[in-house]
Amino acid sequence: MDDKGGFPHYMLKEIFDQPQGLRATIEPRVSVEDGLVRLDEVRIIADELCALRRINIVASGTSRHAGMAGQYMIQELVNLPVDVDYASEFEYRNPLIGKHELTIVITQSGETADTTAAQRLARSRGSRTIAISNVVDSTIAREADGVLYTHAGPEISIASTKAFTAQLAMLYLFAVYLGQVRGKLSKEQVRVHTRELLEMPAKVANVLQSAPDCERLARRYNAVQDFLFLGRAIHYPVAMDGALKLKEVSYIHAEGYPTGEAKHGPNALIDETLPVVIIATCDCNDAGSVLRYEKNVANIKSFKQQSGRVMAIASEGDEVVCKLADHTVFVPQASELLSPILEIVPLQLFAYYMAVAKGLDVDRPRNLVKSVTRE
Ligand code: F6R
Repeated sequence: MDDKGGFPHYMLKEIFDQPQGLRATIEPRVSVEDGLVRLDEVRIIADELCALRRINIVASGTSRHAGMAGQYMIQELVNLPVDVDYASEFEYRNPLIGKHELTIVITQSGETADTTAAQRLARSRGSRTIAISNVVDSTIAREADGVLYTHAGPEISIASTKAFTAQLAMLYLFAVYLGQVRGKLSKEQVRVHTRELLEMPAKVANVLQSAPDCERLARRYNAVQDFLFLGRAIHYPVAMDGALKLKEVSYIHAEGYPTGEAKHGPNALIDETLPVVIIATCDCNDAGSVLRYEKNVANIKSFKQQSGRVMAIASEGDEVVCKLADHTVFVPQASELLSPILEIVPLQLFAYYMAVAKGLDVDRPRNLVKSVTRE
């Protein structure tokens, strides 16, 4: 039975499912009135959460990119150090973990072999584990001390889209919860964060209206062989995931890089043949974000001087970036820690339309499977 809901491919349907997946993940867990995030599913007592000295996040592929963003969220809101590992690399670094280090494993399927192995290793060293899983009762969920289910709904397309934004929302909820339990965030601060989070589904619905622009861009850039995706701070994992989506569904080489690293090498490649996709949004209520934005503007200027073609993801109303870049896709204003949920959407759409324009099998890219259950 075709359950694509009238969309030509699962990937496009799942991109458009995102407001609903976010609502289902966020709404049952917050009470703005009480200034509370409720995550009873964590199943680790407050004393243990207060005694934590470090968090490890372990995952693969897109789920790891969500974990990279989660690192910024937890360090910012909880002030606790966070390491992020590729699940497939975790065992090789002899992770020095025990009961004071919590391990969070992130997985859409809950069956990824590398992530399962990493979780077992963490447990064998005495670390408590929390799984963020989209599939109920998956192997990884069953083996964890606590499970935080994302409610993105079944993800059929091999390229992960709606699971990613639901994971970002879940990590934000967890960061606020931990901040609340450890006395780092007041009720009023929790209220502000949860209110902002609750606004995200409607903002994503707004970004989805840029689909025709993304399609036009994909047609225009369809013959290009290489792309560079750049993002600074929490926007770097978004750049990584934008590049991954493009690679996997359209078979175009794309690299995700931290924007500030461009001058340490990749700059040599930037000219009219290598377009740059740069995330250059700004949270004007946050001095740090404004500073990063100004650096991004300087970067865009220098790419243009090198004859680079620049596609920017910018905040609504930003005329500066709009004038400098060759093409700009706008996303609504949001606090910096939440903006990845918006920024990834046009990148998912761009990758999708690139693959469609090439006539590729979008939902089943070659050499890939939905869940990598063998090492
Ligand atoms: C990319 C993609 C993969 C998965 C990775 C982990 O679009 O889907 O990179 O993210 O294989 O899978 P899960 O999240 O099921 O553990």
